[in-house]
Amino acid sequence: MRFWDDRVVPVLVDKMLSTGPVHKERRAVCSGLTGRVLEVGFGSGLNITHYPAGVTEIAAVEPSDRGWELSSRRRAGAAVPVTRIGLDGQDIAAPDHGFDQALITFSLCTIPDPARALREVRRLVRPGGTLAFLEHGLSPDTRVARWQRRLDPIERRVAGGCHLSRDVPGLLRDAGFEVDTLETGYLPGPAAMRPWGYLYRGTASTPA
Ligand SMILES: C[S@@+](CC[C@H](N)C(=O)[O-])C[C@H]1O[C@@H](n2cnc3c(N)ncnc32)[C@H](O)[C@@H]1O
Repeated sequence: MRFWDDRVVPVLVDKMLSTGPVHKERRAVCSGLTGRVLEVGFGSGLNITHYPAGVTEIAAVEPSDRGWELSSRRRAGAAVPVTRIGLDGQDIAAPDHGFDQALITFSLCTIPDPARALREVRRLVRPGGTLAFLEHGLSPDTRVARWQRRLDPIERRVAGGCHLSRDVPGLLRDAGFEVDTLETGYLPGPAAMRPWGYLYRGTASTPA
């Protein structure tokens, strides 16, 4: 599966997560970002065009060299410097509280230990800073959730370790975040796609 995970999955993810409805969600989640931003699970840089003018610097954490390569043109066109500061969101070599905000999109599903990655985000974002998140995860509909759990082992194998049934607000709260804003709902599309399409978009912060 190494060739598949390293070379094919990043390309598929780039295609599947660049549809119009997904970009609309990306625009919304990025709209409040400002200052020095840490982006964990940078992928192919699909958020770059949505970073608002107040952002001064993007620090990317991304293990996939193929994803990083795919982002090259987007990075070259970015209005601010984009630096790859690490390969693993679970263990980032950067000083405490060095960032104004953090962004995570469609990555808490894939990071092996998302709780650890969220604790790293807490450490790295300054007091009063926020985490903006856009993730797919566990549906509140029992039937869809049942399918998500059934499909999880296959999804993990074919989609680079992605889980369908992670409880996004639960992960945030367990890592010590308060969820300040939260919008949920399915992406538009056929009902059969719902196990992949229940989105959580919002902001979270740590109590002062
Ligand atoms: C579904 S892709 C989403 C990519 C991008 N965030 C986006 O919105 O298009 C999941 C990303 O998480 C990354 N990832 C996997 N394990 C990771 C880890 N330990 N730390 C940081 N990112 C990780 C993958 O390489 C991949 O780029």
